[in-house]
Amino acid sequence: MMIGKVFHLGLDRDQLQHIDIAFLPGDPGRVPKIAGYLENPRDLAFHREYRSMRGTLHGQEVLVCSTGIGGPSTAICVEELAMLGIKRFVRIGTTGALQDAINPGDVIIPTGAVRLDGASRHLAPLAFPAVADFRLVQKLVQGVERQQYPYHLGVCASSDTFYQGQNRHDSFKKGWVHREIAEQLQEMKNLNVLSFEMEVATLLTQCATFGLSAAAVLGVLVNRNRAEFPDAAQHAQIEDRVIRAALSCLG
Ligand code: URA
Repeated sequence: MMIGKVFHLGLDRDQLQHIDIAFLPGDPGRVPKIAGYLENPRDLAFHREYRSMRGTLHGQEVLVCSTGIGGPSTAICVEELAMLGIKRFVRIGTTGALQDAINPGDVIIPTGAVRLDGASRHLAPLAFPAVADFRLVQKLVQGVERQQYPYHLGVCASSDTFYQGQNRHDSFKKGWVHREIAEQLQEMKNLNVLSFEMEVATLLTQCATFGLSAAAVLGVLVNRNRAEFPDAAQHAQIEDRVIRAALSCLG
């Protein structure tokens, strides 16, 4: 099948030749930072929230492409990359921890995600699990163990909102949320969910239903039992660690 440039990412198959794996940060600003770890990094496209670059890592050609924040923009990104032949997807993200034993700077490798998002419901009924690809998770675990980063394996929760859905108090309505989600944070804690973020459930559901592989590595920015917002000073250090952790799956 011949396709030209896909609608949102502004990429075509020729630009992705010999690439089967994509690293997916949310933030377009993180794309050149990740590409800085690659040999021969090249810009490909930058439309809306989707910035893409390619380069070589341990002899493999790889793509880095931002998804934007949340399920809807992630679903567009993954759909179009799948159309262009990408088979493996690794999200590089950040997260707010819910369990006391998890500290800022730790790494979380989700084995699955609670589907609190809306986008994944357009991809599969809620009974379908958002699960990570076992082989990719195994490679990521080996990578973080080699680097001796403190890490946690388990289930994260993906919310469509940063404030209401994650029950933050420092919001316009001072923490008020409607009754159906008022207990969401406490419920996730009780269910041993490791952390809140905004994209993993969509990514994992989509790739599982497409027969493609996906996993994620999340840097813990904040522990929600101790603070509402991350410490700005720690941000860059955590970002660097989560990039190294994700890229280690090819090491
Ligand atoms: N991303 C989120 O969605 N929540 C957090 O607490 C941190 C990062």
